[in-house]
Amino acid sequence: MADQAKAAVEFAQKNGERFVEELKALLRIPSISTLPEHAGDVRRAAEFVAAELKRIGMEHVRLIETATAERPGGHPLVYADWLNGAPAADGKPAPTVLCYGHYDVQPPDPLDEWKSPPFEPAEREGNLYARGAVDDKGQMWMHVKALEALMETGGGKLPVNVRVIVEGEEEVGGEGIADFVREHGDQLRADVALVSDTEMFAADLPTLCVGLRGMIYTEIEARGARTDLHSGMYGGAAPNPFVALAQVIAKLKDADGKILIPGFYDKVQKPSDAELTAWKALPFDEEHYRETEVGSIALTGEPGYSVLERTWARPTLDVHGMPGGFTGAGAKTVIPARAVAKVSMRLVPDMTPAESFAQYRAYVESICPKGIVLEVRLIHSGDAIVVSTDNRYIQAATGAMHEVFGKETVFVRGGGSIPIVGDFERELKIPTVMMGFGLPDDNLHAPNEKFHLANFHRGIESIVRFFVRLGG
Ligand code: BES
Ligand code: MN
Ligand code: MN
Repeated sequence: MADQAKAAVEFAQKNGERFVEELKALLRIPSISTLPEHAGDVRRAAEFVAAELKRIGMEHVRLIETATAERPGGHPLVYADWLNGAPAADGKPAPTVLCYGHYDVQPPDPLDEWKSPPFEPAEREGNLYARGAVDDKGQMWMHVKALEALMETGGGKLPVNVRVIVEGEEEVGGEGIADFVREHGDQLRADVALVSDTEMFAADLPTLCVGLRGMIYTEIEARGARTDLHSGMYGGAAPNPFVALAQVIAKLKDADGKILIPGFYDKVQKPSDAELTAWKALPFDEEHYRETEVGSIALTGEPGYSVLERTWARPTLDVHGMPGGFTGAGAKTVIPARAVAKVSMRLVPDMTPAESFAQYRAYVESICPKGIVLEVRLIHSGDAIVVSTDNRYIQAATGAMHEVFGKETVFVRGGGSIPIVGDFERELKIPTVMMGFGLPDDNLHAPNEKFHLANFHRGIESIVRFFVRLGG
């Protein structure tokens, strides 16, 4: 077993540069799932991943279409498997690992803040810069390359059974994969899911993520006059949808960050004392975090909770943009007829998207300003999740990372969301190992996203060792 890992790790080291070049080719494809004009690029990225899975020896490689009459813009899933794993000495079948990742990316704007263009991957100071470098093309590629290394050095065999499912809609809510898991869960039957789409708590600190926040992403549309109006002629008589939205938003949370939606906190579970104690022991300097990661003059949020509690275990509400009206250079005196606010909320266990959205909608409608018609829409949602750490898969992961990093693993939660992880637990009834190798300053969703290349290589090695441990 040790030999198997050693040979595969050596192969990965020898071929590390090629792995990075291949990743660059994938990063050049602007697979931005939210922008319809990039649908062709999204498909090209899916085909790129499928072709590589086939080349390395995975079986039953195919694209699974997710577009339906209701969701004509659905992007394809990439599926592959290799289910010929040899049973253990005691006759037990080899475990099956479901490798999950996403090949879609967030939009790259604001473009002028990138030091090199987002879809022209560039190496600087040991980092690979590009949109999707770490979220999640680079991390998904670690799975593919770990499988390649094991296949190549194992005579075309893997130490475990593997299914691979890679989606192209994670960044827009992941409805396509959720439908597939619900309707065809038998095709993804596995013992454990492996997800590499989270971060390490600090450089050199092996980390497993054991919880994610859920979310509801919404739009509020405000309509006032029938058409845009001259603000001099009608100001004083006509309602202004932007002012109305500002008034609504101002009532959603108070200056301390407490959300004012009635009932919103009713189902919030406090983390266990053991978890809170462990979080206090993590190497975290609030001032350093403010200065280097956030870069604001002060941090905000609910008093009485640490930053880690506020970002991992408390619900939050944010506004992402308010399209509409006049945003060009200079001045235009107009009362816009309509305005939109994009508002999302992060949820924690045991809140549910359906109940939280109903509470939010009812509250927003109850505070609708005079003269305005509001429409509250749900764009997408996902459940919060906390996974159990008491299983052999988590042990295999911490053991594998100990071999690579020489350190004990820390368990953290993530403030972000990966909607399908909850469905793996509920629909497939399997635990998930969230073994991610991003860094806190990797600029996910922001300009100059990067992947620290040392972590790309250590990630591949960790995954190789994880598979070998599970098979051994
Ligand atoms: N990989 C992230 C989620 C993440 C990041 C989890 C860091 C933990 C630590 C994922 O791609 C993501 O950005 N998800 C979206 C989901 C949403 C659009 C449904 C998010 O969290 O905003
Ligand atoms: Mn991601
Ligand atoms: Mn993301």
